Amino acid sequence: MADLDDIRDGKDFGLDKPVQTEGYFLKGCSHLDWGTKDRLSRIFRPDTGRTVMLAFDHGFIMGPTSGLERVDLNIVPIAQYADCLMGCRGMIRAAIPPTLNKPICLRADAGSSILTELNHNVVIDIDDAVRLNASAIAVMVAVGDPATEAGTIANLYHAVDIGQKSGVPVLGVTAVGKDMARDATYFSLASRICAENGANVVKTYFCEGFEKVTASCPVPIVIAGGKKLPELEALELAWKAIDQGAAGVDMGRNVFQSDHPAAMIQAVSGVVHDGLTPEQALELFDTLKADGV
Ligand code: 5RP
Repeated sequence: MADLDDIRDGKDFGLDKPVQTEGYFLKGCSHLDWGTKDRLSRIFRPDTGRTVMLAFDHGFIMGPTSGLERVDLNIVPIAQYADCLMGCRGMIRAAIPPTLNKPICLRADAGSSILTELNHNVVIDIDDAVRLNASAIAVMVAVGDPATEAGTIANLYHAVDIGQKSGVPVLGVTAVGKDMARDATYFSLASRICAENGANVVKTYFCEGFEKVTASCPVPIVIAGGKKLPELEALELAWKAIDQGAAGVDMGRNVFQSDHPAAMIQAVSGVVHDGLTPEQALELFDTLKADGV
């Protein structure tokens, strides 16, 4: 029961203190709904505005690739160092303990394998993303691929429609098919197409002239790491991407295929969040490695 005999009139309305109406820390996201911002704030650290996403969705195309033979052994022990985990629903349910309490970016399209490359993917049901408490859903867009461009842009469009209904942000993944260019002109085009069609975050690749890609994309960009590189080169890649406007990394192979994945992800995080140079981050990597991490 409400205590009707104890209704006290409010006294302090802070009349001399205007309500703060500042924007939001992520580019292009100020006008999103509260739930979407809340989810994005779980993926991107509000104190740095950046993220280290750990991608292990590769199996849905590549099968049990090196470094992902046992996600329970390869990913779970290092998940604590990531800001967000990017994976597929089957593997998340099978191998990722919900008690980790890490934000999930759910790979939400399916239909391709390494044997046939780009295909006519479909998008999963938003209800399942919500059941998994996804902080974002990720959908691939194959700009420039004659067979799949229209279908994958339609997929992104659909993902944004269904994501918005539940306040789930969408990450547009720019695909790189065998015959596609990998330069700033292509990645600017592909990233911009993702953003214009409603992606809240775009994942693309670092390239020469990358600042043009980030500058022309109205929402945050995270970079994929790509093929495994020597640790220093991967750290340089992350550093250059951040220096040229990326809001983080969504890195897989350069972490889980390292001989010391826990040390590597902490070194990457040092670059992304703590302003370490690649050399300083490599020093951190070597120290952690020497400590048996
Ligand atoms: C696979 C992906 C990966 O998540 C993405 O490529 C990041 O992983 P990596 O750093 O290994 O490139 O989208 O389809």
